[in-house]
Amino acid sequence: DLVKGPSKLLAGRRIIVTSGPTHEPIDPVRYIANRSSGKQGHAIAAALARLGADVRLVSGPVTIPDPAGVSTTHVETARQMQAAVEALLPAEAAIMVAAVADWRSETETNEKMKKGAGGPPSLQMVENPDILAGIGHHAQRPTLVVGFAAETQDVLANAEKKLAKKGADFIVANDVSHDSGINPGGVMGGARNRVKIVSRDGVDEWPEMDKDAVAEKLADLVARHLNTTTV
Ligand code: CTP
Ligand code: CA
Repeated sequence: DLVKGPSKLLAGRRIIVTSGPTHEPIDPVRYIANRSSGKQGHAIAAALARLGADVRLVSGPVTIPDPAGVSTTHVETARQMQAAVEALLPAEAAIMVAAVADWRSETETNEKMKKGAGGPPSLQMVENPDILAGIGHHAQRPTLVVGFAAETQDVLANAEKKLAKKGADFIVANDVSHDSGINPGGVMGGARNRVKIVSRDGVDEWPEMDKDAVAEKLADLVARHLNTTTV
């Protein structure tokens, strides 16, 4: 339509994004968690919203504000995150950026655990649900499913395994080893990121850039993919 201006590339398309860590309670004052600031996931949600998408962000506990123009649900645990994500289906894309705790304590005590003669407690751990794999193999699978892979070694080989196992179209692989050198103290919490985009078609290595720039490029990739695979 020549009269209208350029319409936004992702106008009206529902996209689920997960971000931040999850917290898995041990007792009323303690939890198990992964390191995650939520910066990369929130930046992706914001970038998709700028392209007009109907972004539904499911965030674990973070200290950064909800992104502008994004409908945000706050959760604590992996099980809550999974329930919130599945309640948002159907969607056209899901981008799973959250650093989900792989394990939780089998029991959560109602009372605070106390030090004492018994010595330190031992925790019995159980595995959390894999939210990305659940979405990648879901009966209402979104057209596009993107995961992240935080690795400290064998980054590409591990990302390729995750692509297959989780039923994802893309895995955004990043090296989170402390000596990767792009952020003092490591990629978690820092402003910079260097990622490799792994798909069935091969690997695209992106140069080091700000997490906001990674988010912009990823939003463009999502727009291109959705606009060529659906009407
Ligand atoms: N993920 C998830 N639910 C989990 C664990 C991971 O949705 N319980 C998602 C993450 O959001 C990410 C991707 O799976 O998009 C890969 O996470 P990662 O921790 O790198 O992989 P895991 O499968 O948990 O394997 P491992 O930690 O053993 O490398
Ligand atoms: Ca993990």
